[in-house]
Amino acid sequence: MSELYDVLVIGGGPGGYNCAIRAGQLGLKVACIEGRGTLGGTCLNVGCIPSKALLHSSEMFETADKDFAGLGIKTKVELDLPTMMDSKAKTVDALTKGIEFLLKKNKVEYIQGFGVIIAPDTVEVDGKTYTTKNIVIATGSEVATLPGVDIDEKNIVSSTGALSLSEVPKKLLVIGAGVIGLELGSVWRRLGSEVTVVEYLPHILPGMDGEIQKQATRMFKKQKVKFELGRKVAGVVKTKSGLNVITEAATGGKPKDIEADVVLVAIGRRPFTDKLGLETVGVATDKRGFVATEHFKTNIDGIWAVGDCTTGPMLAHKAEEEAVAVAELIAGKAGHVNYDVIPGVIYTNPEIACVGQTEEELKEAGIPYKSGKFPFMANSRARANHETDGFVKILAHAETDEILGAHMIGKGVSEMIAEVALAMEFKAASEDIARTCHAHPTCSEAVRQAAMDVENWAMQM
Ligand code: FAD
Ligand code: NAI
Repeated sequence: MSELYDVLVIGGGPGGYNCAIRAGQLGLKVACIEGRGTLGGTCLNVGCIPSKALLHSSEMFETADKDFAGLGIKTKVELDLPTMMDSKAKTVDALTKGIEFLLKKNKVEYIQGFGVIIAPDTVEVDGKTYTTKNIVIATGSEVATLPGVDIDEKNIVSSTGALSLSEVPKKLLVIGAGVIGLELGSVWRRLGSEVTVVEYLPHILPGMDGEIQKQATRMFKKQKVKFELGRKVAGVVKTKSGLNVITEAATGGKPKDIEADVVLVAIGRRPFTDKLGLETVGVATDKRGFVATEHFKTNIDGIWAVGDCTTGPMLAHKAEEEAVAVAELIAGKAGHVNYDVIPGVIYTNPEIACVGQTEEELKEAGIPYKSGKFPFMANSRARANHETDGFVKILAHAETDEILGAHMIGKGVSEMIAEVALAMEFKAASEDIARTCHAHPTCSEAVRQAAMDVENWAMQM
C-alpha cells in the first residue's frame, strides 16, 4: 500500500496531464497513470499533433508543386514519404517527452500502466494499489466502428492507420465528412490520392454554420474531392485488386459499389472506459457510455471526470480547460469552464474556424441577431499572398451588440479565431472589435471589417 495521494489522475492525455500538472502547481500530492507507454494521449500520439504535422508537410508539398511556379520560383518537386513520416514521428516523440519533463518539473509522479478503480479511493496498476482522496478519470476516447467494415489498420484504417500509411493510396475512400475525414482526406489528396468521401447526411461538417458548410463543399470540390452525400456504407469487401465499398442511399434503395485501395473510417469517436472498474464502484455513465458528470463530479464522491470520456466537444483544448478547473476545485479554488466560448478549427486549406453560436442555432433559439461578413478577396494581404478564398462572419445580438458567434473560412483563420474568442470571453460588442486598430496589411483586418459590417460600415480593400 502506498502513501495517501490527494489526486490520482487516470490517463495521460490533454485532460490527464494538464490536470496533474495544475494539481502539482497547487501543491497537491498527485500521480498521473498512463497505460500506452508514452504521455500525451490521443492528441500527441495519434491525433492533433501527427495530423497537423502531415497537414503541414503535405500542404508544403502541394504548394511547392502547384503554386511556386506562378510566384516565379522554379522547382522540381518529388515526394519522399518515409522522410515525411519520420519528420512527423520526431515531432511526436519530442512533444511526448516534453510532457514527461513537465510532469517532473511540477512534482507529478508518472505511473506507467493500466489503472483500474477498485474502490472509490483506490486504484490498482499492475497489481499495486494506490490510495487517494480524489480520482480524476481522463481516459479519453476511441474510434467508433461500423458494422461490416473491419478495421485492420492496413487497407481499412482508422485515423491512426491513416497517419502512418507506407504508400500513397491511388484511391482513398473516406467514410464520414467530419473533421478527421476532411483533414486526413486532404493530406492524402495533396500527396496524390483520388479521394471520395461518403457521408450519411446531405451535407458535410455537421453542426457547423450553414454558409461555412456550403463554402467548404465548393472549396473541396474545386480541389477535386468527390462527395457522395446522403449515402451510407453497408460493407467493404476485399477483392483481388483492392476493396469494394458497398454504399446505399441513407434512405435505402439500390446499392452502388465504389472501388478503393484504402478505406478510412472516420464516423466519430466514443468514450473509452473499458476495464476501468466503473461498474465496481458504481460510477454512472449516460446511454452513449460517457461518464456522467455535474460540474465535473461523477455520482461517486471524490471521483471526477474530464475530457473526451465525458460529454461535450471532443477537443484537446476542451479537455485541457476541464482539467485545470477540476484541479482547482480539488484544491479548494473556483474552477470553471465557459462552454459558450470553445473554438473549433479544421486544419484544411483554407482552414475553417468557429466559436459561439451558428446562425441556425440563433434562429432556432429565437435570438435576434445582426450579421457582418467580409470576404478575403477584399483583404489586401490575402490578395498579395494569392490566398483569397473564404470569408469572416461575425454574429452579434441585435439589441445589445454582444458578439454571439464567429465563423471563418480562409488561410490562417485558426489563429484569427482567438481574437474573437477573447472578445467573447470579455463579453465584447462587435463594435469593440470594429474600433480596435488592426495592423495593415494583415488578414486579421478581415475580422475587424466583418465586425464593422455588422453596422454596415465595412470599407477596406
Ligand atoms: P486522450 O487524449 O484520449 O487521452 C486518454 C489517455 O488515457 C490515453 O493515452 C489512454 O491510453 C489513457 N488511458 C485510458 N484508459 C486508461 C487506464 N485505465 N489506465 C491508464 N491509462 C488509460 N482535438 C483538437 O482540439 N484539435 C485537433 O487538431 C485534433 N485533432 C485530432 C486528430 C485526430 C486524428 C484525432 C483522433 C483526434 C483529434 N483531436 C483534436 C481530438 C483530441 O485528440 C482529443 O479531444 C483529446 O486527445 C482528448 O483528450 P483526453 O485527455 O480526454 O483523452
Ligand atoms: P465527426 O463527428 O467530426 O464526423 C463524423 C462524420 O461521419 C459525420 O459527418 C457523420 O454524419 C458521418 N457518419 C456517421 N456515420 C456514418 C455512416 N455510417 N456513413 C457515412 N457517414 C457517417 O467525427 P470524426 O471526423 O471521426 O472526428 C472525431 C472527433 O475527433 C471529432 O469529434 C472531433 O472533435 C475530433 N477531431 C478534432 C479535430 C480538430 O479539432 N481539428 C481533428 C480531428 C478530430
